[in-house]
Amino acid sequence: MASQEDVFKKLIAHCKEYGFVFPSSEIYDGLSAVYDYGQNGVELKNNIKKYWWDSMVLLHENVVGIDAAIFMHPTTWKASGHVDAFNDPLIDNKDSKKRYRADVLIEDLMAKYDDKINKEIEKAAKKFGDAFDATLFAETNPRIQENKAKKEEIHTRFAKALNDGDLNELKQIIVDYDVVCPISGTKNWTDVRQFNLMFSTEMGSTADGAMKIYLRPETAQGIFVNYLNVQKTGRMKIPFGIAQIGKAFRNEIVARQFIFRMREFEQMEMQFFVRPGEEMKWFEHWKQFRLRWHKALGLGDHKYRFHDHDKLAHYANAATDIEFELPFGFKEIEGIHSRTDFDLGSHEKYSGKNIKYFDPELNQSYTPYVVETSIGLDRTFLSIMATAYCEETLEGNDTRVVLKLPPALAPIKVCIMPLVKKDGLPEKAREIMDNLKFEFKCSYDEKDSIGKRYRRQDAIGTPFCITIDHQTLEDNCVTIRHRDSMQQERVAIDSLETIVGKAVSMKKMLQSIVQD
Ligand code: GAP
Repeated sequence: MASQEDVFKKLIAHCKEYGFVFPSSEIYDGLSAVYDYGQNGVELKNNIKKYWWDSMVLLHENVVGIDAAIFMHPTTWKASGHVDAFNDPLIDNKDSKKRYRADVLIEDLMAKYDDKINKEIEKAAKKFGDAFDATLFAETNPRIQENKAKKEEIHTRFAKALNDGDLNELKQIIVDYDVVCPISGTKNWTDVRQFNLMFSTEMGSTADGAMKIYLRPETAQGIFVNYLNVQKTGRMKIPFGIAQIGKAFRNEIVARQFIFRMREFEQMEMQFFVRPGEEMKWFEHWKQFRLRWHKALGLGDHKYRFHDHDKLAHYANAATDIEFELPFGFKEIEGIHSRTDFDLGSHEKYSGKNIKYFDPELNQSYTPYVVETSIGLDRTFLSIMATAYCEETLEGNDTRVVLKLPPALAPIKVCIMPLVKKDGLPEKAREIMDNLKFEFKCSYDEKDSIGKRYRRQDAIGTPFCITIDHQTLEDNCVTIRHRDSMQQERVAIDSLETIVGKAVSMKKMLQSIVQD
């Protein structure tokens, strides 16, 4: 069986080969941790955006959207705390000259203990068969207990060091547990230093006195500085939310795992403004709503889990991640944060403007508290692609690669295929396509055998292929082939819109979030 690492490599190659994701400026050998989305990637991405946007803005009459500029007045980032506190602790290996995030080295170290524990359990499960009780075994096996205790010891020191901002202690953990550089294999480490992740550039010519500005590291601040504009012009009453999708930029020290950690990426964020004191209720509400949104994708409920933060960001009083099981383990794809009144309070202070909300029910002005949901679009894309990618062995030892994408998100919904390139079949096929294209993204393919054409569509996740044959000209029926089951059925051309429409409906997914 192929290892998860091999599967991941294949997925990256597949994304490139089939027009989903290309390395940025590839003809110049690429740019580290920057990627471009191709013709199929952009369709999938747009569909994910629509699913998110509609779940926020259509399903909630008290949530509206905005689209703020990437450039913002530089004081924004002073007020938000990013100039002073948006840092990662970095450490260099003096022999390999490679740079690492100290916290990631320690997280990897803890993950090794988890791996040891899991391997021990897997080994025993094989040995003891059906009667095996994994929980009891884990509770009583001395080696597992020892590894658990080691991990807990590291975890306690690590959480304290992060909370105290103690960089010396971070280094000490790395030294004490003999963490070596994966390249040089040595323990010759520098001290741990803080590194600010914001990119900066200059606005205006130097003669005018250029101003240092930042590329936004999160989209959220565009919402905070506009909250009163939206509240007043939209006559919004608390509680209400503002949603936004847009690019964010971070000079990540360790950029790796394909589109998981990028330097330019996209976020889908929503800030929900609430009365002070009610934030925990809303934090819980949005946690559950967001989890249902993920689960409605149908990738498997067991692939998600919450992970509460050990160290709260400078703005938060509660925070959790929604993690998804990727080929390299459970990883964060969304953060849900209770940001208190930190941001609005700080913008009020730095701008000198009154941005309090007048609550007509309480007859009182206050600075609202904020609960934020912040999901990475690229990470969601990766989680969907990684789960959808399947290599199947078929009858007669034939194989196929199929992307079992949620049909509502598939880049192309229908491929129209005349059996042969003559006898009026292409004309009939075009007629069908011209009718369906107003509703669904369609493609047309008349090259090669039908079998090869099916494989091409499987590889990009097209839910339906429609074949037009000579019989079609007589009975106005076509063969529709379903991607996952590969079943084929003969149906009337008139019924295509309904069959495809039902299967690729986003409405169904949205309804299941609300009904759950
Ligand atoms: N406004 C809050 C905020 O930005 P975050 O946890 O730093 O919170 C939210 O980021 C989400 O943005 C993450 O859960 C992740 O999905 C995505 N994200 C963050 N950094 C990223 C990166 N370098 N590459 C890709 N996605 C990233």
